[in-house]
Amino acid sequence: MNSPTNIDVDDLTKPLTYPTEAFLSKDYAAAEKEYLWPKVWQMACRVEELPNVGDWLTYNICDDSIIIVRTAPDRLKAYFNVCPHRGRQLVNTPDTVHSVRGNGRRNFICGFHGWTFDIEGNNTYILDPQDWQGALTPDCTHLSEVKVDTWGGWVWVHMDMDAQPLVEFLGDAGRILSHFELDKMRYKWRKWVVYPANWKTALEAFMEPYHVTGTHSQLLAYGDYYAYSAAYGLHGVSGFDQRDPAFSMSQSSSVTRAGKGDDPRRSTYELIRENYETLNYAASTETLVNAASRLVDELPEGTPPADVIAHWLKSAKADDAARGVIWPEIPPEIMSEAGLAWNVFPNMSVLHGITFALCYRTRPYGDDPNMCIFESYAIERFPEGEEPQTEWDNAPATAEGWGAVLAQDFSNMEWVQKGMKSRGFRGPLPNPHQERKITNFHRNLATYMGTGAPRHLK
Ligand code: FES
Ligand SMILES: [Fe+2]
Repeated sequence: MNSPTNIDVDDLTKPLTYPTEAFLSKDYAAAEKEYLWPKVWQMACRVEELPNVGDWLTYNICDDSIIIVRTAPDRLKAYFNVCPHRGRQLVNTPDTVHSVRGNGRRNFICGFHGWTFDIEGNNTYILDPQDWQGALTPDCTHLSEVKVDTWGGWVWVHMDMDAQPLVEFLGDAGRILSHFELDKMRYKWRKWVVYPANWKTALEAFMEPYHVTGTHSQLLAYGDYYAYSAAYGLHGVSGFDQRDPAFSMSQSSSVTRAGKGDDPRRSTYELIRENYETLNYAASTETLVNAASRLVDELPEGTPPADVIAHWLKSAKADDAARGVIWPEIPPEIMSEAGLAWNVFPNMSVLHGITFALCYRTRPYGDDPNMCIFESYAIERFPEGEEPQTEWDNAPATAEGWGAVLAQDFSNMEWVQKGMKSRGFRGPLPNPHQERKITNFHRNLATYMGTGAPRHLK
């Protein structure tokens, strides 16, 4: 495991390929436990899930389970979910549940021999401690701590207490996305399913809009889906490219863009409505859809696309302000750089808007490289006190469970996993312009894993 990538960012513009072992190999999946997951910041949950002191939940990644607990109104702590006595999980985390959670905890009591820990992780009770002849110091009896931080309304954990700061790890992705005030958004819905594909196969289905033409062809009626993608260090972004300069504006790479055709008043509405309804009421908001529905009444025929978008956003912003949802001011240059959706390395995808985001996370499931835990959730800015109450919904991977568009994505992912095993598959041929986010992902993954670096096709 010592042949790191020699592909640099500039090479990502060239035709590249990369090996399939990262998706298929049991040994590779085992190596991820050593070389990847303990070395990265991972999003564990939303801050809103732990509002009060004593609120706690578990986050599992491969063989490691982590307990995150609010120890003070302004402080979270995280520990490995293991008793230092003989290694029982402090909280049972069966594979059949998304996560285990509770409220009002003052301590954790191990079910095996009763050792007890306060929420700060200190051991507070051992049966017959004298039997250890003074060897049990706090150093060996407190819970093993995990580094924890918050950003964007998420709780992040890192297994190495000496890890680089989260904000440094997030880099430009954090700098750009901070403008969207994701921390002010709250869950609208959240779903998960155990799905038959590697976590990377599943995640990559959401890393590029190049598949829209082939997979979601119904969406082509109202918008063009030509895309670009770009690397930002560990992370990457994709966005829409406009072939027609009249449609080029700060919003045009994002999901909040003009529809195609002669009458952008109508097509912008149709595009956003179709997206919203078939993406399980995500990637937009009721306010934006309603404001778009009025464009045809409020604007004269022939209004140029840029003016249609400006009017749409202005009226949606006013509608939201009237119900107490205040939009962040996002400079146009940030808006255009922010694109459509980010891969936050390694396993998170964020499709963001001014008042909403549609997010994905994938994780390994057990030791099987052919299975993953797939999660998607929508967050949105709600008027204070009107946030919906949500739970993790274990939904079957169908249109009924997830909406028509996600079902179309599901209808590819497991067959990519199977297809890549074919003797006849010569290796991926990612689009050097539209799927660069994926080659950048493999470039970075290879630096952690020491294997699997992309190489030039010619
Ligand atoms: S394993 Fe926890 S008290 Fe013995
Ligand atoms: Fe898709």
